[in-house]
Amino acid sequence: MNVIMLGPPGAGKGTQAKFISDEFSIPHISTGDMLRDEMKRKTDLGKRVEEIINAGKLVNDDLMVAIVKKRLSQPDTQKGFILDGFPRTISQASSLDEILESMGKRIEFVIYVEVPEEIIVKRLSSRRVCPKCGRAYNIISNPPHDDDLCDVCHVPLVIRKDDKPETVRNRYRVYLDLTLPVMEYYRKRNVLFTIDGTLSVEKVKDMVLNVVGGIR
Ligand code: AP5
Repeated sequence: MNVIMLGPPGAGKGTQAKFISDEFSIPHISTGDMLRDEMKRKTDLGKRVEEIINAGKLVNDDLMVAIVKKRLSQPDTQKGFILDGFPRTISQASSLDEILESMGKRIEFVIYVEVPEEIIVKRLSSRRVCPKCGRAYNIISNPPHDDDLCDVCHVPLVIRKDDKPETVRNRYRVYLDLTLPVMEYYRKRNVLFTIDGTLSVEKVKDMVLNVVGGIR
């Protein structure tokens, strides 16, 4: 099963992608997590993208396509994958088509998680993430079991630098300009499923699993 999670920053794409990944044992491929990992390890790539990410801008298409192409060629994607954060531009979407076509694959579900801007700014100011596994928590709506520690890795949670309200608004503007057209791209292909991301994490999970669990 090949799935794309689409939606504004903070819509809950990563949270839901992890549920699908656990349920169907397919990898969750988050381009944001991959880039943050490069930044954490201070690689050349990490140094190149740090300023762009912290300003809430997009990393260039060619670089992102190369990263995703390499990741999709790994054997764990044979049974399927969940792309989270990619594609983010029409150019990335059309490159993804080419990559998948060359592998004899296609996207079956694009889950569009819809959440308005004001809710997003509030959600992201209370988000905490695990620096090890990338799992997202929320001190208001989705807290960890044990104070500020990841439920799975038991390491202290951190605040993302790009979660400052002014940066979140910038990311949202970039999303409206460049990523919203990607939704239309997939709607025309009849693979787009819109989910109300303002509902609780559990309700959204039920709806998402219902979509991808359906026979197509
Ligand atoms: P990326 O990491 O992909 O950021 P994003 O798309 O902005 O999405 P987020 O990770 O912020 O949010 P999410 O939708 O996953 O929400 P989450 O589940 O965490 O990208 C970061 C940067 O990398 C980009 O800005 C760009 O610079 C670069 N980049 C990455 N990919 C790129 C690409 N393809 N091309 C170019 N540049 C790229 O949830 C958010 C919060 O809400 C959490 O606190 C969570 O607990 C809570 N929550 C989740 N669901 C609910 C709910 N239903 N109700 C209440 N709270 C909820």
